[in-house]
Amino acid sequence: MKIGIGNDHSAVDMKNEVVDYLLSLGHEVVNFGTDTYESCNYPVYGKAVAEAVRDGKVDCGICICGTGVGISLAANKVQGIRAVVCSEPYSAKLSKQHNNTNVLCFGARVIGIELAKMIIDAWLGAEFEGGRHATRVGMIMDIENEKFGE
Ligand code: RB5
Repeated sequence: MKIGIGNDHSAVDMKNEVVDYLLSLGHEVVNFGTDTYESCNYPVYGKAVAEAVRDGKVDCGICICGTGVGISLAANKVQGIRAVVCSEPYSAKLSKQHNNTNVLCFGARVIGIELAKMIIDAWLGAEFEGGRHATRVGMIMDIENEKFGE
């Protein structure tokens, strides 16, 4: 898989460990930064990853900030993006099976690298189940496209 990754200054070390992990699993990684500890603005990186997912330049995205919250909010503002913040594997797996999430986010100040790896495994290993879940995800996208209820 080709995976885009982005982060702010709080998550540089975790990002590097996640990249090493993804490469060890045989994935291709596109790094959208940041790569320095200098204070920066997480929306820049959430947007970059999300746009790459939207445009099909990567298959999916992983975004990390201090909590995972800010960067997920930014990613979710890009058309077609369903970003989820997870601190445990169960929600990560279900977010793919039921919600067809395409960007995974977590917080470098919330979880450690080993839990992050378990969350990544759960998310990458799961598949969207479609069916009734496709109807519901379609309704979410209708809200985004201002077609809900039409
Ligand atoms: C940066 O200090 C912090 O606000 C950011 O990493 C993130 O946690 C925001 O949601």
